[in-house]
Amino acid sequence: MAERITLSYTDSRPALAPGELEARLKAAAPILEEVKAGEERYAGSLGWLSVDECAGEERLDFLLAEAARVRGMADAFVVIGIGGSNQASRAAVKALRPKDGPAILWAGNTISAAETRRLLGELDGYRSIVIDCIAKNFETLEPGIAFRVLRAYLEERYGVEEAARRIYATGTPGSSLDALCRENGYTFLTFPERVGGRYSVGTDVGLFPMAVAGVDVRALVQGMRDMRGRLFSEPAQDNLALRYACLRNLFYEHGYALEMLAFFEPRLSYFSRWWVQAFAESEGKEGKALYPVAACNSEDLHATGQFIQQGSPILFETFLTVADPGASVALPADRKGDGFDYLTGRDFREINDIACRATMQAHAERGIPCLELRVPKLDAHTMGELFYFFLFACYLSCRVLGVNPFDQPGVENYKGYMFKNLGKPGANA
Ligand code: PA5
Repeated sequence: MAERITLSYTDSRPALAPGELEARLKAAAPILEEVKAGEERYAGSLGWLSVDECAGEERLDFLLAEAARVRGMADAFVVIGIGGSNQASRAAVKALRPKDGPAILWAGNTISAAETRRLLGELDGYRSIVIDCIAKNFETLEPGIAFRVLRAYLEERYGVEEAARRIYATGTPGSSLDALCRENGYTFLTFPERVGGRYSVGTDVGLFPMAVAGVDVRALVQGMRDMRGRLFSEPAQDNLALRYACLRNLFYEHGYALEMLAFFEPRLSYFSRWWVQAFAESEGKEGKALYPVAACNSEDLHATGQFIQQGSPILFETFLTVADPGASVALPADRKGDGFDYLTGRDFREINDIACRATMQAHAERGIPCLELRVPKLDAHTMGELFYFFLFACYLSCRVLGVNPFDQPGVENYKGYMFKNLGKPGANA
């Protein structure tokens, strides 16, 4: 049997009383059952839960055929989107680093003029460009204006008709984006009605850009299915996601205000941003929730590491570790007396692992609860498992906390002022 993702924790100066986790798991068991059964009140947001509703074999065949078309014609593919619309594909592409596809560029996630000008300059260096604008309801400002700029760029460069062949958009059927595509002959992909942005990894939103980049999306979706199978069959006391959800809520209740996702593989940096978004936007409401932050180690040990060891005791950590990093670099011998001979012949992977264990030990001794989510390796299948695990755990965690996992009313407040000040028709702060 393939190695499985595991979750363990060290609570050296115990924050939790003996039996506290077990009692919480027992109390939360009905939540797990309700979530598995499909909660009526969230029916409009649960299209991702089954995996196959949005990523069945037929849909994957279609997406892979479209991706093959793009891969056959483009040396650059621009993903336009923000928040849940771009985080998952960027996380997977950056973690898995597929090699043989077009360059993947990211747009529509900033309003910076300098960044937008830089992107346009970068595009001049490519021969053949295809774009995909992803927006659930096409009112979000960043992708909306980036899409307009990039449409103009393509039309100027290729002419209106050829530009249309190079434009994809992913939105809700019946939305204004759908209408724009129909009127102009752009290819329209589906942003499923019953899936919110941050839960959209296993839909056209996440899977199409990944497939264009060359990520093995069949393996990734299989990873999601396998994790679903596991989480739907494990009993509450042993359920990987419920344990994680209960632990983080218990630490929150014991006064920890932040959860830090710490990792020692820098290619997980964008995955950590996906994780931050999923938890912050799902949980942070009603004056509650852990603030999710990330640390890319060992680099961040030379920065926030000081705070963690001796600053205010406000956080606990979840270490996302990788058993087989998939690469080896041995330290060569050298007679120059640089002071590192004690490491001659040792592998970076071993040194990295020892640094990670030392960090956990030092932080745990300080009284920081340290969870470890350990994955056997980083491939498409494992990434799929991780995506599904965290989404499912996020849903459970919101339920344990007592907040709606699927709305984000708070993000509307700044938009009210911004749209009013920009003169958007009908906008009131
Ligand atoms: O998770 C979410 O719902 C948000 O982060 C959205 O994905 C984000 O605001 C972008 O929304 P839209 O796709 O409508 O442009």
